[in-house]
Amino acid sequence: MITGAGGQLGRALQEAFGDEDLVALSHKEWDVAHPAPESLARGSLDLVLHAAAWTDVDGAEADPQGATAVNVGGTANAAALSDLLGAPLVAFSTDYVFDGRKREPYVESEAPNPLSAYGRSKLLGEAAAGEDAWIVRSSWLFGPTGHNFVRTMLRLGAERDEVAVVDDQRGCPTFVGHLASAVRDLVDADLPRGLWHLVAAGECTWADFAEAIFEDSGLECRVRRISTEELGRPAHRPAYAVLRSERPNAPLLPDWRDGLRACLAEIRAGDDAAT
Ligand SMILES: NC(=O)c1ccc[n+]([C@@H]2O[C@H](COP(=O)([O-])OP(=O)(O)OC[C@H]3O[C@@H](n4cnc5c(N)ncnc54)[C@H](OP(=O)(O)O)[C@@H]3O)[C@@H](O)[C@H]2O)c1
Repeated sequence: MITGAGGQLGRALQEAFGDEDLVALSHKEWDVAHPAPESLARGSLDLVLHAAAWTDVDGAEADPQGATAVNVGGTANAAALSDLLGAPLVAFSTDYVFDGRKREPYVESEAPNPLSAYGRSKLLGEAAAGEDAWIVRSSWLFGPTGHNFVRTMLRLGAERDEVAVVDDQRGCPTFVGHLASAVRDLVDADLPRGLWHLVAAGECTWADFAEAIFEDSGLECRVRRISTEELGRPAHRPAYAVLRSERPNAPLLPDWRDGLRACLAEIRAGDDAAT
């Protein structure tokens, strides 16, 4: 079963687990801030892939309780269903649980210290998932659907000659298709439960990422490199958010540039199909 099936990761998980008998539930079908519907609780499941989340990082500063209800309460409800039905849980978390003060990749055993209401809600969500869950931390997700940086840059790059993009935050832009395949590997190999850092290989800043998007999509748009302070968003974000896994046999994801190419190819294929 997949929660948040309409989100970008939810959709990619549907593809990666597409050969299985899937129950894919959108926000409308199960608002995870409430306990699981009776029909689900009385059924049987093999695996709970919990991709539903409050992902509006700046919005969480204005409504931390709303973010907590979904990211902590929702994960507790997914964990309760998983316990009830004896179906292991995969919960998703984020690089934003770290403060980003280091200049070397963060591994699973490092102490988190979130800077934002979103990061705090995701960290509490990890605890709510319980010790028996696979807790997958990833970062800077993008895919062919939904709200993400690639789709925003493609839109802005087609409208403008120049965009201002932050150049003092580093991370690992991760294609949801690659993350979903890695999650499939984690589950199929029945690797030990607990925390796993699964992100694309390589690292870059948002400005580097924007330039790569314009280059690979043939858009003539310049990137003006600005600081986080200049952008002035409500939520604090880690300056250095590169994750790596220290765990044996961790599934390895392709480089973020390969993820970008795969994502752009899917977007083009979708555009061709629509015309
Ligand atoms: N996006 C990133 O850069 C990023 C980075 C690291 C980790 N993550 C984590 O990865 C997971 C997937 O994120 P994503 O990028 O796929 O996010 P997304 O595209 O925003 O998808 C989240 C989905 O959850 C749904 N949702 C929101 N509130 C809900 C609720 N109360 N009950 C049920 N569904 C609800 C949303 O539906 P509506 O749109 O209809 O509200 C949406 O379909 C999340 O745990 C996120 O924290 C994301």
